[in-house]
Amino acid sequence: MSAKSAPVLPAASGVAEAAAVLRSGGLVAFPTETVYGLGANALDARAAARIFEAKARPSFDPLITHLADVADLTALVGALPPIVAALAERFWPGPLTLIVDRPPAVPPIVTSGLDTMAVRIPDHPVARELIRRAGLPVAAPSANRFGMLSPTRAEHVVAGLGDAVDLILDGGPTRCGIESTIVDARGDQPVVLRLGSLAVEALVEAVGPVSVRPGSSGQPVAPGTLAAHYAPRTPLRVVDAPVPARPDDGTRGYLALREAPEGAYGAVEVLAPDGDLTGAAARLFDALHRLDATGVTEIVAERVPDSGLGRAINDRLRRAAATWQTSG
Ligand code: TXA
Ligand code: MG
Repeated sequence: MSAKSAPVLPAASGVAEAAAVLRSGGLVAFPTETVYGLGANALDARAAARIFEAKARPSFDPLITHLADVADLTALVGALPPIVAALAERFWPGPLTLIVDRPPAVPPIVTSGLDTMAVRIPDHPVARELIRRAGLPVAAPSANRFGMLSPTRAEHVVAGLGDAVDLILDGGPTRCGIESTIVDARGDQPVVLRLGSLAVEALVEAVGPVSVRPGSSGQPVAPGTLAAHYAPRTPLRVVDAPVPARPDDGTRGYLALREAPEGAYGAVEVLAPDGDLTGAAARLFDALHRLDATGVTEIVAERVPDSGLGRAINDRLRRAAATWQTSG
């Protein structure tokens, strides 16, 4: 964190100023229902370039464009393929990102040169009001430095990226806590490219069978699906069942689903005493941010049941752990 952070404004009163910042090519961190986004004008290549610079994000990692209404999307790209339209109708606004053809108005830097564009309509009043007032499509990755934990509170943005943005809108903690589910539904059978806050079961219920291939589709591969990503600063290890603390575990942190393990870990976070995986997803990144801040030497994290949002939680834990296996 640097000495000088961007101003943090309450979302309700700051949204007009934030829209003006976006219109003038600046960067605004804002709340969505999933995580905080780092927004810029998606029609302005220079503004989009600032996102990559602020996040230290590789230029091959395309951005998600955010809109306020489906009508704005069809105005940009024309009619949607049938399953894309069905998913948009059913789940927008909401934590679903869909792949469409990149319209000529969106500069290639936004999509990292791909001829496709990821797009979503967030289910958050502040995000939609901001996009409406700016009168622009807003390109926004999660508001964290590349590869790090996504922010679910304005404080996380201040700590991670405060010196690199022009304005931060504080809308309190985000409701879902894990990024949107990314789906390519242009063909006959939808392909899930990234597990996220919309459960696979909900997709299947809406449109029938889907294949789940995180990391296998996008050309180049979507880095949000890279094996190593979403990492805390502290090394993280995933375990299959609760692990009681050993005598030397006072320097380790522990991430539990339902209850604290036996023995004395240095710090413990419990995601959901009732076992509710949606609530657990909402608290996942916040808990990891807190464990990171305690200075423990390692985080031991329990794998959760692999259904509903548990799949997305396990996906993020696996990637966080992979970061530490690959980088030592
Ligand atoms: O919930 C979310 O989706 C949040 C909030 C702010 O909306 N945004 C987010 O953005 O998670 P980001 O940049 O952290 O992750 C976007 C993912 C990346 O893994 C990127 O590679 C993938 O979307 N992506 C973007 N455009 C794509 C495309 N055309 N084809 C395949 N994957 C794409
Ligand atoms: Mg991200």
